[in-house]
Amino acid sequence: MKIINVGNYQELSERAAKIVIETVQNKPNAVLGLATGSTPIGLYNELIDDHAKNGTSYRKICTFNLDEYVGLEGSHPQSYLYFMRQHLFNHIDISSENTFIPNGKAEDMMKECERYEELIKEKGGIDLQILGIGQNGHIGFNEPGTSFSSRTHIIQLTESTRKANSRFFSSMDEVPTHAVTVGIQTIMESRKILLLVSGQAKMEAFKRLLSDEIDESFPASVLKLHNDVTVITDIAFDN
Ligand code: GLP
Repeated sequence: MKIINVGNYQELSERAAKIVIETVQNKPNAVLGLATGSTPIGLYNELIDDHAKNGTSYRKICTFNLDEYVGLEGSHPQSYLYFMRQHLFNHIDISSENTFIPNGKAEDMMKECERYEELIKEKGGIDLQILGIGQNGHIGFNEPGTSFSSRTHIIQLTESTRKANSRFFSSMDEVPTHAVTVGIQTIMESRKILLLVSGQAKMEAFKRLLSDEIDESFPASVLKLHNDVTVITDIAFDN
């Protein structure tokens, strides 16, 4: 893992945006893997600014989001589809035909998972996967204990994840109990991975990422087995 330490969240967002923009410029039909959560919002803002100022085009870009809550309509303000439209898709020249997010309301969720995996393959696989990290080390919604060989699947969210994400809902009861997420194997097949780790709340997770054994009890540890991972962090930490 290549680790880039930056001074603050703005710098983290700019460094990350630079990598995404380079990817898009070098390969105008690149396939991007996108993440939600508060961490990548600054990156998306930078991409929007750059699109407006420099005209970087996403017309041929295809995107796959990592995950979605089970049971939320795309029109629900806390759905990840809504999030992506609000924070990125509505502000750049990407075609809605090229943006993919698992459907959390599919009638047959098993089929939905298979369909999603097939689509990623059909589009040639992910060139650049953007990741955040959960306080418990989850990537996407792959909670501790998820098999490293997992593909897109349904997961029961841990109480700690529901609690961490409850800040976006009006009450804890409204936080979905399940999510659909690409698997750890799916993430590991991405050609390049960019992990963003920001804020004191992630200090413990970051320390564990650096020091823990590679083990399914800490999902992000798997990234140490990938040959092209860049971690950008604004956490000052002497190891
Ligand atoms: C959610 C998402 C993850 C994200 C994590 C951290 O659980 N499914 O993809 O990395 O939250 O979010 P935040 O960046 O808000 O801390």
